[in-house]
Amino acid sequence: MSDIILETRDLTKHYGGVHALEGANFTLRRGEHVAIMGDNGAGKSTFVRQITGVEQRTRGEIIFDGKPVHFAGPLEARNAGIETVFQTLALADQLDVPDNLFLGREITKYNWLGPFRMLDYKAMRQRTMDALVKTGVKIPNIRGSIERMSGGQRQCVAIARTATFHSKLTIMDEPTAALGVQETAQVENIVRTLKEAGEPLILISHNMRQVMDLVDRIVVFRRGRICANLRKEETNGEDVVAYITGAKTQPEYEEAA
Ligand SMILES: Nc1ncnc2c1ncn2[C@@H]1O[C@H](COP(=O)(O)OP(=O)(O)O)[C@@H](O)[C@H]1O
Ligand SMILES: [Mg+2]
Repeated sequence: MSDIILETRDLTKHYGGVHALEGANFTLRRGEHVAIMGDNGAGKSTFVRQITGVEQRTRGEIIFDGKPVHFAGPLEARNAGIETVFQTLALADQLDVPDNLFLGREITKYNWLGPFRMLDYKAMRQRTMDALVKTGVKIPNIRGSIERMSGGQRQCVAIARTATFHSKLTIMDEPTAALGVQETAQVENIVRTLKEAGEPLILISHNMRQVMDLVDRIVVFRRGRICANLRKEETNGEDVVAYITGAKTQPEYEEAA
């Protein structure tokens, strides 16, 4: 089994004339936590959307868990073991919290009525409560539909999903941007739990303190291209900002700059 859980080669996405992502060569090891940083519009979310099949790439390869993959959509990526918290939340508005949590992976049980498996709502509600306790989010009525919730509550439902199901890879795109101090701390605890469990993570964040606290490595995107790959011990906030703003580029990425 390879040490590498995810690799992208020359991953590229153009929207007409907009080169949102250009030639991204990226590697993530099993158990490794990597932050992606970069200015608004640098291509971070575009990168996530190509990996998870939300959009179809212009060119390039994605190798996940040892195999080339080409996901037709985010559910297919999730079934393959990639749990993603998207920046714009992909929650089903009309469904309640348990339904959203278990979308695509409903718990079923046999009952005495016949040979068919039934949805086990009780088990799903219980696991929902457990998951929400982990995120520390207070949602008065988990049976209420998602559309009546605040951005922070919705974000927490999505993050609770990542904490509930073991996945081969978790991707979080600015998970705490809309959250308060307490909810942010809970999300950071979930990230630490994933690290202890040996589960790899890609974390997109603008929060330098958070990134420095949580990850092993920082990859910087600028104008659609990767411009730096920094081990946390070998960098600091000021250095990272220099790469984000374009004051610095690592020699191996200079051609791209
Ligand atoms: N669907 C789209 N159509 C056209 N341009 C897009 C689309 N999505 C993103 N872009 C453009 O691609 C670039 C990268 O965007 P994005 O990946 O959202 O950046 P980031 O997540 O780093 O802020 C931006 O210039 C953005 O305007
Ligand atoms: Mg984004």
